[in-house]
Amino acid sequence: PISARAAENRFGFTAIAASTEDTITVPDGYNWHVATRWGDPLFSDVPEFDHATRGTAASQARAFGDNNDGMAIFTDKDGHQILVANNEYTNRSVIWGNNPEGKYVSDDDILKGKNAHGLTAAELKEVDGKWQIVKDSPYNRRFTPDEPMDITGPARGHALMQTNADPTGETVLGTFNNCGNGRTPWGTYLACEENFNGYFGTSDADGYEQDAGKKRYGVSGKDRGYGWWKIDDRFDVVKEPNEANRHGYITEVDPYDPTSKPKKRTALGRFKHENAEVVVNFDGRIAIYMGDDERGEFLYRYVSDGYYAEGGNTDALMENGTIYAAKFEADGTGKWLALTPEATGMDKAMICIQTRMAASAVGATTMDRPEWVTANPLKAEVYCALTNNKNRGIKPNAGGDETPVGGPNPREANKYGQIVRWWPSNGDHTADTFKWDLFVMAGNPTVHQDMNGGSTNVNEGNMFNSPDGLSFDNKGLLWIQTDGNYSNEEDFAGQGNNQMLIGDPATGEIRRFLVGPREAEITGISWSADRRTVFVGVQHPGERGDSNWPDGGDKTPRSSIIAVRRDDGAVIG
Ligand code: FEO
Ligand code: CA
Ligand code: CA
Repeated sequence: PISARAAENRFGFTAIAASTEDTITVPDGYNWHVATRWGDPLFSDVPEFDHATRGTAASQARAFGDNNDGMAIFTDKDGHQILVANNEYTNRSVIWGNNPEGKYVSDDDILKGKNAHGLTAAELKEVDGKWQIVKDSPYNRRFTPDEPMDITGPARGHALMQTNADPTGETVLGTFNNCGNGRTPWGTYLACEENFNGYFGTSDADGYEQDAGKKRYGVSGKDRGYGWWKIDDRFDVVKEPNEANRHGYITEVDPYDPTSKPKKRTALGRFKHENAEVVVNFDGRIAIYMGDDERGEFLYRYVSDGYYAEGGNTDALMENGTIYAAKFEADGTGKWLALTPEATGMDKAMICIQTRMAASAVGATTMDRPEWVTANPLKAEVYCALTNNKNRGIKPNAGGDETPVGGPNPREANKYGQIVRWWPSNGDHTADTFKWDLFVMAGNPTVHQDMNGGSTNVNEGNMFNSPDGLSFDNKGLLWIQTDGNYSNEEDFAGQGNNQMLIGDPATGEIRRFLVGPREAEITGISWSADRRTVFVGVQHPGERGDSNWPDGGDKTPRSSIIAVRRDDGAVIG
C-alpha cells in the first residue's frame, strides 16, 4: 500500500465535479485549447471549414477527418511531431445537418461522408502557445476509404478475399471505422477497424440473405445510412460479396514516410477491433492484446513467432504468429486458447478471416464488449475496459455464443461496465495462463445499493459509466475515458457528460480529471514529445443536436483534439 501523501503526489491534481456544461472542464492548475477540429485544412489551398455547407467531397479529402478516435504522436529525428488519428465515422445529423432530415441529397454528399472517414496524419506545432496543424507539411496526409493498401498475412490471396476489382485478393482500397489504435516499438501506427459492417448495403435489402459468416459479423443488405454502395459497387453486398471480408482488420501505417503503402495485417484477425496494445515480451516476442467490441464477443492476444530486434524485419513479426482467445474461470485464473488449425478445424487463412468462429470453436469466454486494452509499463499487468452489455444473461447473443453471467462479467443487463485486469504467469506475456480480478465495477451508488452501485472505489464524487478508452502514463497511472449514457437521469443521475478519470492501480483510487462537452464521448489520448501536453480526443459533440462545441454560438459542433497542459508547464503523467 502507498501512503496518502505518496498517493497525493502521484495524482498531482484535485478531482473535479461532474458537469453537464457544453465545454471542457479540467482541474485547477490545468488549461486546455483546441489543437485541431473536423474540417481543418491540411494544405493552404483548401478552404477553411464552412459551417453553412460543412464542406465538399473535395475539401474533405484534404482536411482533418470527422469523429477522431484513437491517435498517436510520433517525433522525427529533427523533433517534428506527427499526429496520426483515426476518423472513425460520421454522424448524419452533423455532416449533412444542412440538408432536410440530415440525409445526403447528392453523390457529392455521400462522397464527402466517405472522405471524412479513414485516417489523418498531420504535423502539429506550438505557435504562440497553442498547438495547431502545420499546413503543407510533407507529413500531412489523408488515408480515405479509397487509399490502396496491401493485404498481408495468411488471408492474402485467399478465395474469400478476391473481388472483381482485385482478382488476386492482394490489394484493398481503404480503411474505415477505425476505433482505437496501437503503436509499435518500431515507430508505426496501428489503426483498428471496428464496425466495418455498417457500410455495406444493396438495393433489395429485404431480399438479401446472409450466410453464416456475414451473419456473425453483422453484414446485411442494409447500411447504416452512409450510402456508399450507391456510388461505389464495392459496397454492394450482392455485386461484391467478398469486399466485406477485406475489412475488420488492423492496418499498419508508417507515419515517417508519406509515400508508404499501408499494410492490412490479417494475421491479427478479423473482428470489430477496438485497439491494439503492443508489448515486447522479455524474450523479444511481440504480444498484441486486442478487444472485439461487441456484446458477447471475445478478448484476444496475438503472439509473434519471431523476436523483435531493432532494425530487424518487422513485417515478419506482423505476418507470422498465433492468435489466442481468453477464457476466464470464476476462481480468478484464466487461459489463452490458441486458435490453431488443430483446435478450430479451420485453416490458417480462415482463422484470420472468420476469427470469431475460431474463438467460438475453442470455447473462449463471451465478454461485455471488450474495448481498449492497455499494459502497465512498470510491471506485467494488463487492463481492458468492458464497456457495458444490456443483453448479458437475459437475451441470446445474435449469431454468437451463450452469454452466462459470471467471472469478469458479473452483472445481468450490465448498464455501467467494468475494467478487468490480469497478470500473465511469471510476468510472461506469451504464457498460456494468467490470474485476473476486476479493478473497478462502475455504477451509481446514489441510486443503487446492490452490485449496480459499483465497487468500493466508486463513490458519489467519482462515479461514471461505460469505460472505453484506457491508457497508462509513464508513472503507471491508468487514464480512463468514457463513452456512455450522458442523460444525467435515473440510473445515470449525477454522472454528467462523458469524462476522463485517472486511476491508481496500487490503491484502486479513481479521480475525475476532465469532463467533455454535451453529447460527446472522450476517446483517444497521446502525449507530446516533452510530455508537457496531453492530447485528448473529443468525439461526436452534439450527436443528438444539443451542442455547438467547440466554436460556440449557433455553429456546427465539431469533433476535435484538445491539448491539455499544466499552468506551470510541468510534465503531465
Ligand atoms: Fe468505436 Fe468500441 O468504440
Ligand atoms: Ca471506443
Ligand atoms: Ca464505446
